[in-house]
Amino acid sequence: SKEELEARVIEVKNKLGSKLFIPGHHYQKDEVIQFADATGDSLKLAQLSAENTEAEYIVFCGVHFMAETADILTNENQKVILPDMRAGCSMADMADLDQTEKAWEILQGIFGDTILPLTYVNSTAAIKSFVGAHGGASVTSSNAETMVKWAFTQKERILFLPDQHLGRNTAYDLGIGLDDMAVWNPITNKLEYEGDPSKVKVILWKGHCSVHENFTVQNIHDTRIQYPNMTIIVHPECRREVVELSDMAGSTSYIINAIEKAEPGSEWAIGTEMNLVNRLIQNHPDKKIISLNPAMCPCLTMNRIDLPHLVWSLDTLEETNNTIKVAPDIAENAKLALNRMLQNA
Ligand code: 13P
Ligand code: SF4
Repeated sequence: SKEELEARVIEVKNKLGSKLFIPGHHYQKDEVIQFADATGDSLKLAQLSAENTEAEYIVFCGVHFMAETADILTNENQKVILPDMRAGCSMADMADLDQTEKAWEILQGIFGDTILPLTYVNSTAAIKSFVGAHGGASVTSSNAETMVKWAFTQKERILFLPDQHLGRNTAYDLGIGLDDMAVWNPITNKLEYEGDPSKVKVILWKGHCSVHENFTVQNIHDTRIQYPNMTIIVHPECRREVVELSDMAGSTSYIINAIEKAEPGSEWAIGTEMNLVNRLIQNHPDKKIISLNPAMCPCLTMNRIDLPHLVWSLDTLEETNNTIKVAPDIAENAKLALNRMLQNA
């Protein structure tokens, strides 16, 4: 039963104390997040992993790329476990190393040695390693602006992987015109851009988040008509048009802070993952909060981590096959990319 499963988590946590660390991303289910030792967005969880030298077992309640990051930033005696190996990320899967090497070769042919690669942390360790090896850095949605600014101190133009929307929204906020952004299509191996390539400042990898792409301009229009007093706040993984028409946009932590600071009685429509929106609704009964998309969008892979998987991973800490171990050669360069971010952000 649910009660037995919950009791088992508490028992293992009490027994292991600080030997066990359970980080939980804000998009995780309540049944899991209630047992997290720390909750956070991807930046905070990366920072916490880097700081934690004590825990022998890190049972990561999040998705695969986050567990890889935790493994890269912890020491070799610390074991990072993902409760369900199927908890991937469709965005991270949109850029693989072969595609990236191919893209790099063609782009070097067009632009020469003027490009710095940046990768959203929502990418595989192999992509972070490629980026690190080429002088670039990782970014998260909470430090993307800082990191894009930093990138332009290094090179004339950037290749931003794998989320075109975060890349476009961030560059736009820094004053780069949409006309100066091109899109790299990894399926056709073509640069989607009309005009003189020497003007291109930002090359956006054609990837996206399947959860945040579900928020549409239509949702914004409908919300404005039905609830004229609502403030619309969205994650920068949403399309440019959606961010443009919303009132505020920012990372998961930015959205949480905005709601926490908001006046009682204020009204909010939120464009981000469903578990987080539902939690904000529950935690703020004094505010009127809805999802920007009434059909609500869960991240299916985040949701693969549930209470039974958490219990099972706690019961099999020693013999588990769910250890996330990034190969040392990949980890070394990926760490360069992550550290450039952690130092600058
Ligand atoms: P942040 O935690 O950086 O807001 O990223 C959102 C996300 O999509 C995580 O998978
Ligand atoms: Fe990936 Fe989007 Fe899910 Fe985050 S919310 S894990 S980016 S699919």
